[in-house]
Amino acid sequence: MVMVSKSKIQTQKFAAKLAKKIVSQATGKNAKVLALVGDLGSGKTAFTGGFIKSLGIKTHVPSPTFVIFRRYPISDLKLKIKDLKFKNIFHFDLYRIQKPKEIIDLDFKKIIKNPENIVLIEWPEKILKYLPKDTIKVFLSHSKKEKERIINIK
Ligand SMILES: Nc1ncnc2c1ncn2[C@@H]1O[C@H](COP(=O)(O)OP(=O)(O)O)[C@@H](O)[C@H]1O
Ligand SMILES: [Mg+2]
Repeated sequence: MVMVSKSKIQTQKFAAKLAKKIVSQATGKNAKVLALVGDLGSGKTAFTGGFIKSLGIKTHVPSPTFVIFRRYPISDLKLKIKDLKFKNIFHFDLYRIQKPKEIIDLDFKKIIKNPENIVLIEWPEKILKYLPKDTIKVFLSHSKKEKERIINIK
Protein backbone atom coordinates (compact mmCIF):
# COMPACT_ATOMS: atom_id res chain seq x y z
CA MET A 1 0.00 0.00 0.00
CA VAL A 2 1.46 3.34 -1.04
CA MET A 3 0.39 6.81 0.08
CA VAL A 4 1.70 10.29 -0.44
CA SER A 5 1.76 12.40 2.71
CA LYS A 6 1.70 16.17 2.34
CA SER A 7 2.47 17.04 5.97
CA LYS A 8 3.67 15.67 9.29
CA ILE A 9 0.06 15.63 10.51
CA GLN A 10 -1.02 13.59 7.52
CA THR A 11 1.77 11.08 8.21
CA GLN A 12 0.61 10.85 11.82
CA LYS A 13 -3.02 10.35 10.82
CA PHE A 14 -1.99 7.59 8.49
CA ALA A 15 0.02 5.96 11.30
CA ALA A 16 -2.98 6.29 13.61
CA LYS A 17 -5.18 4.49 11.11
CA LEU A 18 -2.72 1.64 10.86
CA ALA A 19 -2.46 1.49 14.67
CA LYS A 20 -6.22 1.18 15.06
CA LYS A 21 -6.27 -1.57 12.48
CA ILE A 22 -3.48 -3.48 14.20
CA VAL A 23 -4.92 -3.31 17.71
CA SER A 24 -8.32 -4.46 16.52
CA GLN A 25 -6.81 -7.59 15.01
CA ALA A 26 -5.99 -10.75 16.90
CA THR A 27 -2.53 -11.14 18.32
CA GLY A 28 -0.13 -13.55 16.67
CA LYS A 29 2.46 -15.94 18.03
CA ASN A 30 4.94 -13.15 18.58
CA ALA A 31 4.94 -9.38 18.91
CA LYS A 32 3.57 -7.23 16.10
CA VAL A 33 6.71 -5.65 14.70
CA LEU A 34 6.84 -2.61 12.43
CA ALA A 35 10.18 -1.87 10.78
CA LEU A 36 10.45 1.81 9.83
CA VAL A 37 12.88 2.18 6.98
CA GLY A 38 13.95 5.60 5.70
CA ASP A 39 16.59 8.31 5.69
CA LEU A 40 17.12 10.83 8.43
CA GLY A 41 14.15 13.22 8.42
CA SER A 42 11.92 10.94 6.37
CA GLY A 43 9.37 10.82 9.19
CA LYS A 44 10.00 7.63 11.15
CA THR A 45 9.72 9.31 14.53
CA ALA A 46 6.75 11.42 13.40
CA PHE A 47 5.00 8.25 12.22
CA THR A 48 5.73 6.53 15.53
CA GLY A 49 4.37 9.52 17.47
CA GLY A 50 1.10 9.39 15.54
CA PHE A 51 0.88 5.65 16.06
CA ILE A 52 1.47 5.81 19.81
CA LYS A 53 -0.75 8.83 20.51
CA SER A 54 -3.66 7.27 18.65
CA LEU A 55 -3.64 4.48 21.22
CA GLY A 56 -4.59 6.80 24.02
CA ILE A 57 -1.09 7.49 25.21
CA LYS A 58 -0.97 11.16 25.99
CA THR A 59 2.68 11.93 26.04
CA HIS A 60 5.25 13.53 23.87
CA VAL A 61 6.96 10.80 21.88
CA PRO A 62 10.59 11.84 21.71
CA SER A 63 13.17 10.34 19.47
CA PRO A 64 14.74 7.70 21.71
CA THR A 65 18.09 8.15 20.04
CA PHE A 66 19.94 8.41 23.32
CA VAL A 67 18.16 5.61 25.14
CA ILE A 68 17.75 3.05 22.30
CA PHE A 69 14.19 2.26 23.35
CA ARG A 70 11.16 3.39 25.31
CA ARG A 71 8.13 1.45 26.47
CA TYR A 72 4.60 2.88 26.50
CA PRO A 73 1.88 0.90 28.29
CA ILE A 74 -1.41 0.72 26.39
CA SER A 75 -4.46 1.59 28.43
CA ASP A 76 -7.54 -0.32 27.28
CA LEU A 77 -9.72 2.00 29.36
CA LYS A 78 -9.19 4.87 26.99
CA LEU A 79 -9.20 2.79 23.87
CA LYS A 80 -12.58 1.15 24.34
CA ILE A 81 -11.57 -1.89 22.36
CA LYS A 82 -13.15 -5.08 23.57
CA ASP A 83 -10.72 -7.78 24.63
CA LEU A 84 -7.66 -5.74 23.83
CA LYS A 85 -4.72 -8.14 23.84
CA PHE A 86 -1.91 -5.66 23.36
CA LYS A 87 -0.36 -4.24 26.51
CA ASN A 88 2.77 -2.35 25.46
CA ILE A 89 4.24 -0.39 22.63
CA PHE A 90 8.01 -0.33 22.31
CA HIS A 91 9.80 2.31 20.29
CA PHE A 92 13.35 1.41 19.31
CA ASP A 93 15.78 3.72 17.58
CA LEU A 94 18.84 1.75 16.53
CA TYR A 95 20.64 4.65 14.86
CA ARG A 96 23.50 4.55 17.33
CA ILE A 97 24.01 0.85 17.81
CA GLN A 98 27.13 -0.68 16.30
CA LYS A 99 26.36 -4.37 16.71
CA PRO A 100 23.10 -6.33 17.12
CA LYS A 101 24.47 -7.65 20.39
CA GLU A 102 23.91 -4.24 21.97
CA ILE A 103 20.14 -4.64 21.77
CA ILE A 104 20.02 -8.39 22.09
CA ASP A 105 21.49 -7.69 25.53
CA LEU A 106 18.52 -5.41 26.24
CA ASP A 107 16.00 -8.27 26.22
CA PHE A 108 15.13 -7.55 22.60
CA LYS A 109 14.38 -11.19 21.81
CA LYS A 110 12.02 -11.44 24.74
CA ILE A 111 10.25 -8.24 23.71
CA ILE A 112 9.66 -9.34 20.11
CA LYS A 113 8.42 -12.77 21.23
CA ASN A 114 5.68 -11.45 23.47
CA PRO A 115 2.36 -11.29 21.55
CA GLU A 116 1.18 -8.53 23.92
CA ASN A 117 3.73 -6.14 22.44
CA ILE A 118 3.71 -3.85 19.44
CA VAL A 119 7.28 -2.94 18.51
CA LEU A 120 8.20 -0.05 16.23
CA ILE A 121 11.82 0.01 15.12
CA GLU A 122 13.71 2.86 13.48
CA TRP A 123 16.85 1.78 11.58
CA PRO A 124 15.83 -1.92 11.52
CA GLU A 125 18.56 -2.56 8.93
CA LYS A 126 20.88 -3.08 11.88
CA ILE A 127 19.11 -6.20 13.11
CA LEU A 128 17.37 -7.60 10.04
CA LYS A 129 18.01 -11.23 10.86
CA TYR A 130 16.32 -10.93 14.25
CA LEU A 131 13.03 -9.58 12.91
CA PRO A 132 10.04 -11.93 12.79
CA LYS A 133 8.98 -13.07 9.30
CA ASP A 134 5.66 -11.28 9.56
CA THR A 135 7.25 -7.89 10.29
CA ILE A 136 5.32 -5.03 8.69
CA LYS A 137 7.77 -2.94 6.69
CA VAL A 138 7.07 0.77 6.47
CA PHE A 139 9.25 2.52 3.90
CA LEU A 140 9.36 6.31 4.17
CA SER A 141 11.07 8.52 1.64
CA HIS A 142 11.44 12.16 0.75
CA SER A 143 9.83 13.46 -2.39
CA LYS A 144 10.32 16.48 -4.64
CA LYS A 145 8.39 18.83 -2.37
CA GLU A 146 9.75 19.73 1.04
CA LYS A 147 6.79 18.41 3.01
CA GLU A 148 5.98 15.47 0.85
CA ARG A 149 6.80 11.91 1.92
CA ILE A 150 6.06 8.64 0.17
CA ILE A 151 4.95 5.95 2.60
CA ASN A 152 4.97 2.41 1.35
CA ILE A 153 3.74 -0.45 3.52
CA LYS A 154 4.72 -4.01 2.72
N1 LIG B 1 4.85 14.68 5.21
C1 LIG B 1 5.64 14.65 6.29
N2 LIG B 1 5.63 13.56 7.11
C2 LIG B 1 6.44 13.51 8.20
N3 LIG B 1 7.30 14.47 8.57
C3 LIG B 1 7.36 15.58 7.79
C4 LIG B 1 6.53 15.70 6.64
N4 LIG B 1 6.79 16.92 6.06
C5 LIG B 1 7.72 17.49 6.82
N5 LIG B 1 8.08 16.71 7.86
C6 LIG B 1 9.13 17.05 8.84
O1 LIG B 1 10.19 16.14 8.65
C7 LIG B 1 10.78 15.82 9.90
C8 LIG B 1 10.71 14.33 10.14
O2 LIG B 1 11.48 14.06 11.26
P1 LIG B 1 11.50 12.68 12.00
O3 LIG B 1 10.12 12.14 12.13
O4 LIG B 1 12.28 12.87 13.25
O5 LIG B 1 12.32 11.78 10.94
P2 LIG B 1 13.18 10.48 11.19
O6 LIG B 1 12.77 9.89 12.50
O7 LIG B 1 12.86 9.61 10.01
O8 LIG B 1 14.61 10.91 11.18
C9 LIG B 1 10.03 16.60 10.97
O9 LIG B 1 10.72 17.78 11.23
C10 LIG B 1 8.70 16.88 10.29
O10 LIG B 1 8.09 18.06 10.77
MG1 LIG C 1 13.88 9.26 14.20
